[in-house]
Amino acid sequence: TILENPTGPLPRTRPVIEPVRSARTRAYGMCTPEHFEVAYAINAWMDPSVPVDRARAMRQWQELHRTHLDLGHRIELLAPLPGLPDMVFAANGAVVVGGRAYGARFRHDERRPEAQAHAAWLRAHGISVHTPEHVNEGEGDFLVLRDVILAGTGFRTSVAAHEEAARVLGRRVVSLELVDPRFYHLDVALGILDDGGGDAPADIAYVPEAFSASSRAVLDDLFPGALHCSVEDALAFGLNLVSDGRNVVLPSAATRLAQEIAARGYTPVPVDLSEFVKAGGSVKCCTMEWHA
Ligand code: ARG
Repeated sequence: TILENPTGPLPRTRPVIEPVRSARTRAYGMCTPEHFEVAYAINAWMDPSVPVDRARAMRQWQELHRTHLDLGHRIELLAPLPGLPDMVFAANGAVVVGGRAYGARFRHDERRPEAQAHAAWLRAHGISVHTPEHVNEGEGDFLVLRDVILAGTGFRTSVAAHEEAARVLGRRVVSLELVDPRFYHLDVALGILDDGGGDAPADIAYVPEAFSASSRAVLDDLFPGALHCSVEDALAFGLNLVSDGRNVVLPSAATRLAQEIAARGYTPVPVDLSEFVKAGGSVKCCTMEWHA
């Protein structure tokens, strides 16, 4: 007689159980939009003929500032300088990891002086700053996870800067190529939901269409369970988000992404930063993190 396995084959998939999301307190750097305007066009979003409502921008920025504080995070303020209207996008000024910073070197002349202001500010806070040799735009193109730094190139940051950052910060850097000018910085194409620094594994969201085929393959390999964001939500700057591991602060216009993030066990915290979209930025651009 032939004995058959009475229970049949083992099921090949297990039900997905999302980890419990837990928040870690963060240190952020921000810069008030006192001098914010769209005076030049250095990305596909900027049109100097479209007026910015600076009072409204200030209210929106204050709402973001308040939101981070209410979530229990620490914020250091960088003093805005006249003539540098994009300085409100504080994330672009450096990458800070473990008390050390890799300074920025902006692609466009219009923003170049911002780098020095950042370096002086960080040094005043006891952070050692490496002056970069290569063009890079700080956390606009470098997103820090515990085990790896994801780095964008194609529009702003050079690949040589990826290597330089790896050396300076002592972390593995993975290069990703951006191919769509609307997603000119990595932080508008990819958001870190969990950096893997707590109990849960690293978790990211990204819009595949923003990346070259080979970079998509790299992302798929590193993060097989990643959340794929629609182009529509990405164009609403949904991926330009800031997460503490549980609370995900993101632009209110990215409604579907907020639902998908909630389904993964996070708490979406929507804020309206529509004035800043006129310059091609949102939540993450306005929030530099000083990573532990
Ligand atoms: N107008 C700025 C620029 O083009 C926007 C920067 C937005 N920041 C960001 N991290 N994506 O440089």
